[in-house]
Amino acid sequence: MRVGILTSGGDCQGLNGAMYGLVKALNFNCKEKLEIYGILEGYTGLINGDYKKMKSEEFEGILNMGGSILGNSRQPFKRINDADENGVTKLQSMIKNYKNMDLDCLVVLGGNGSHKTANLLSEQGLNVVTLPKTIDNDINGTEMTFGFQSAIDIATRTLEELHTTAKSHKRIIIDEIMGNKAGFLTLYSGIAGEADIILIPEIPYSIDKIVDFINKKLDEGRRHIIIAAAEGIISKEESKLTKKELKQKRATENYTSAAVYLEKKLSEKVHREIRAVVPGHIQRGGSPCAYDKVLTSRLGAKGAELILNKEYGRMVAVVNNEISSVPLSVAVEKPKRVNPNDEIVKQVRMMGICLGD
Ligand code: F6P
Repeated sequence: MRVGILTSGGDCQGLNGAMYGLVKALNFNCKEKLEIYGILEGYTGLINGDYKKMKSEEFEGILNMGGSILGNSRQPFKRINDADENGVTKLQSMIKNYKNMDLDCLVVLGGNGSHKTANLLSEQGLNVVTLPKTIDNDINGTEMTFGFQSAIDIATRTLEELHTTAKSHKRIIIDEIMGNKAGFLTLYSGIAGEADIILIPEIPYSIDKIVDFINKKLDEGRRHIIIAAAEGIISKEESKLTKKELKQKRATENYTSAAVYLEKKLSEKVHREIRAVVPGHIQRGGSPCAYDKVLTSRLGAKGAELILNKEYGRMVAVVNNEISSVPLSVAVEKPKRVNPNDEIVKQVRMMGICLGD
């Protein structure tokens, strides 16, 4: 049995762990001779025919390792029909290389965009199984993606550390947390890191509401304020604009990042020192947390089970807290977002944490 593996899109903690679980389970249970092909740099390797035969042992001892031993790259789905100088599209190259490798199955570890490509490859007749990765936890069909819990731990730590320095200096600090469209990471780490204000893309904010909240807290004697702000937050006014209008508005405002913009806006109205912090890719870096090590081992093992049972065209998923799988067509439905009416949002409001609205 020949299995190709690739890690697509932005990296996250747990990519190696998922491959470890997959290969270990395949190796233990496969009755035929098992051959593993590592496809390098995500879909780029599949397009360019850049892959290598790997020994099962190369996937041992990597559960704790950050990044991906195969490398990552972004290959936007919307460019999949772009052709090279010979007129061959990326999609055609991928299918050709899959056939050249004579694969029985391609395993894709990826997020939303990567799943669109995986689904298309499956529709084109390739045998595909996927594993859900992303710190954003925004893939439809799974309650949990790997990388999310590890990133929460890191983002929480940044908030906790900012509390001590902000308190000493009586400052307001805005911590920008990753997540362009989905606010799960900011919401969860904001709660865990005791943020006073949590701003997420799904709940457009009002500067005046934030200012009122800050002033009230300071009047009550609070020394410092910590704001957890997702990178993709938008104001109430901005939420009424089209994509193009928002882009134009931000260009005229020299917009660089959510935290820096918020710092500028709040400084006009709040008489306290305000600082913006952008931890950025630190949130995707380093080793997975124990939760993700267990999760990726289990997801990988389930992926092996699907392959051995020839159940292709599926994403391994967490459904009702069990490791299960869903068709790729489900995984590519509208990405998950925080529902402002969710229980967790209600509980945040109950605690008096400001959501900016
Ligand atoms: O999808 C994961 C993620 O980390 C998002 O939270 C973030 O918006 C994006 O990737 C950043 O991507 P890149 O590393 O390509 O800048």
